[in-house]
Amino acid sequence: AQIQKGQFSHFMLKEIFEQPESVVNTMRGRINFDDYTVTLGGLRSHIANIRRSRRIIFVACGTSYHSCVATRALFAELTELPIALELASAFLDERVPVFRDDVCVFVSQSGETKDTLLALQYCKDRGALCLGVTNTVGSTISRETHCGVHINAGPEISVASTKAYTSQYIALTMIALTLSDDNLQKVARRREIIDGLFDLSANIRKALATEPHVKKLATEKLGKAQNLILLGRGYQAATCLEGALKIKEVSYIHAEGIQAGELKHGPLALIDEKMPMMLFMPKDRHYSDSENALKQVTARLGAPIVVCAEDDDTSLFKNLETIRVPQTVDVLQAIVNIVPVQILSYHLSVSRGFDPDSPRNLAKSVTTA
Ligand code: AGP
Repeated sequence: AQIQKGQFSHFMLKEIFEQPESVVNTMRGRINFDDYTVTLGGLRSHIANIRRSRRIIFVACGTSYHSCVATRALFAELTELPIALELASAFLDERVPVFRDDVCVFVSQSGETKDTLLALQYCKDRGALCLGVTNTVGSTISRETHCGVHINAGPEISVASTKAYTSQYIALTMIALTLSDDNLQKVARRREIIDGLFDLSANIRKALATEPHVKKLATEKLGKAQNLILLGRGYQAATCLEGALKIKEVSYIHAEGIQAGELKHGPLALIDEKMPMMLFMPKDRHYSDSENALKQVTARLGAPIVVCAEDDDTSLFKNLETIRVPQTVDVLQAIVNIVPVQILSYHLSVSRGFDPDSPRNLAKSVTTA
């Protein structure tokens, strides 16, 4: 059946607003919230091998790569294995050493991205166990990998990936939870994350409710912006990269995601009262470091839009625009935080007269290397 936009003017907006349901579809039948078990049928017979591997290498492009950036620390924390991240588009250039006892995880919404497929072939040739995380049943990547997980986000039509990102994030989180379910020391942490997954749909819904305010920021405060710097650290570093990619793709504004800790190593030179900025500052263990970043930019007259907790009443935000989102467990906060940025990129595009569903020069599925 043909997929319709329904009440939405673009697929991108429809897909952003589908996320309270698509994230549930990714978890359906896999997480038991009563006994805190996670079962991924597509991995069952390989779990022992993955646990015995000597490292996990994530390979992907674009937004799919960002879902790996977002969950890397969680994998390291829960599996205690060395974790590598590789851009599929640069993988063969670098001739990355890959061995029989490596596990390679290929993340791709379409399952047809040529760069990712070439990297998959390379890793298979070297005897690594290859795992696919895709949104397309029967796609080349899901067929060519040894095992895998479908993210079940439903078809994504918009070139700019939104609901696939949040579902990839959850699928990867579930893989990390599965790999660590034999580790008694991780029980409390796993439970905290599973409780967070239970609340996620409601929290995304609340984040979607920021739309009128975010639309106003896009059309007024950022109405003439030609640049946008996104700052964050810890789990929010991925939000910055993914947010900047969304903004570039659909609004053609030059946007850059920067690790807040890197400010003093160069980007601070860009900051003045005219430079548009966003800062992600959830109440996590990086809060005081983010406070420092905020002070560094306000001292240079920078005035970032701060994405923060609903109830954060620090006086530091007194003269700043804020976007308030619900707080959740640190590892899932980046799922909630990307939502207002997806909405922002959409409105930056539409208010400038562009079609966010078909950005210039881009294709939904990149089938050439
Ligand atoms: C996302 O908004 C982009 N259109 C693009 O970066 C995309 O994520 C990338 O090309 C990878 O595609 P895939 O997930 O289908 O492999």
